[in-house]
Amino acid sequence: MSATQSTTHAHPASREPHEDALQLLMAEHREVKAMFQAYQKLAGAGGKGDERMLLASQICVALSVHTQMEEEILYPAARTVLTRNEDIVDEAYVEHAGAKSLIAQIKTMTSDQPLFDAKVKVLGEYIDHHVKEEESEFFPKLRRTTLDLATIGEQMAARRKQLMAEPEPS
Ligand SMILES: [Fe+2]
Ligand SMILES: [Fe+2]
Repeated sequence: MSATQSTTHAHPASREPHEDALQLLMAEHREVKAMFQAYQKLAGAGGKGDERMLLASQICVALSVHTQMEEEILYPAARTVLTRNEDIVDEAYVEHAGAKSLIAQIKTMTSDQPLFDAKVKVLGEYIDHHVKEEESEFFPKLRRTTLDLATIGEQMAARRKQLMAEPEPS
């Protein structure tokens, strides 16, 4: 009889590389940037309406989940430690509100409407600006605090899973 059958721990479960809250969000920033670039390429090449619609709706979902995770988890935590820099957090909420308004408009449109491409492009510019502020100012300030970014990252990853599983409100 062989004893090999008892080696249940021989293959460690494959895991995602561990990401803290800011690494997770920055990875999403890059993903969404790539989606906006793909959209511009498609629009510039006179891409088919249904392809642009699909990509635009994927961008809207990705941004809705991302902003919701930040607003529910990261930003409130940031307020507890950035007590002298609350304006950074305030501005981030306001920038999200601007983006959300465009997202809401895009969701009600079809790609053959005159301003569809323009709205997606301007949304990309809004997000670019906002991401620059988060990555150059907001996140570095958070890194210098005592905030437990590893635990917050786990909470956000769990919340993301939930949000992605929910049917999209229409
Ligand atoms: Fe972000
Ligand atoms: Fe944000």
